[in-house]
Amino acid sequence: MKNSLLQSIGDTLLVKIFENSPGSIYAKLEYLNPGGSIKDRSALYMVEWAEQQGLLKPGMTIIDASSGNHGIALALIGAIKGYPVIICSTDKHSKEKMDTIRAYGATVLTFPSGPSLEDPNSYHSQAVKLSKETPNSHMPNQYCNPLNATAHYYGVGPEIWKQTEGKVTHLIAAAGTGGTVSGAGKYLKEMNPNIQVIGVDAANSYRSTKGNPKPYKLEGMGVDSESLVLDNSVIDEFIEVTDEQGMDMMKKLAHEYGFLVGPSSGAVAYAAYTYAPRLKPTDVAVIIFGDSGRAYLSKGFYAK
Ligand SMILES: Cc1ncc(COP(=O)(O)O)c(C=O)c1O
Repeated sequence: MKNSLLQSIGDTLLVKIFENSPGSIYAKLEYLNPGGSIKDRSALYMVEWAEQQGLLKPGMTIIDASSGNHGIALALIGAIKGYPVIICSTDKHSKEKMDTIRAYGATVLTFPSGPSLEDPNSYHSQAVKLSKETPNSHMPNQYCNPLNATAHYYGVGPEIWKQTEGKVTHLIAAAGTGGTVSGAGKYLKEMNPNIQVIGVDAANSYRSTKGNPKPYKLEGMGVDSESLVLDNSVIDEFIEVTDEQGMDMMKKLAHEYGFLVGPSSGAVAYAAYTYAPRLKPTDVAVIIFGDSGRAYLSKGFYAK
């Protein structure tokens, strides 16, 4: 029994996938979190840290930029703790995610997609501006706040270690802010330096294109700035995935495996599938399924 919905964040299931792989591959079902994604963990960590530091007090407003899931998590947490929440996002991200933020009673401000995060017109820069202009507000700032990764160092990392009884050999996770792969990767490498940590990025992102990004459809992932959260020292390699590769695998996961997951999970599964021939029979790879396909149904991604 849990005394609060917030206590039900984490402890997600680890389920075997791709039975024919040369090594074992397990998917961590982060869409089972109450807000429906991995971002519940980092949002709660950043909010509670700010409360402990006295930076966030009753009556204040939470403002941040999000591709959707961090915003949903903040909206859920704000509803429970009594903070108004304002989320800056873009017209690229799914209607369901924006409607979900609103359903928790929070406000969504939509900006055009395209500009890099540092551009004054980006949704991130607009959130920074709004938080400066709004008295009594606090911005967790997921794109710049190292606590975003710390949350996963203390959360999903130790869970993976425990659930696999220390047998995990590979972590394969999507990078958006880079918090998940950096935080969980750091913890796992401290437990066993031989563990391989693999980041999955959008092929058209700022990082993948060495500063010349092009539009891409994959949501919630893609390193679109010189990320302050991404810790390259724990990442052994990146696998870069195109929209087509990620979306095709996402469809396949639903149609052939029964995992109805979002685009970042499709990209991660594609990366794992291509990496699988390099696995030994004793290897145990853990991949992260960040959110559910229910958040993208209106986009028609799953049509046969
Ligand atoms: C569905 C999904 N997967 C993966 C990620 C990437 O996680 P991180 O920001 O920790 O790199 C996000 C981030 O928003 C996400 O929403």
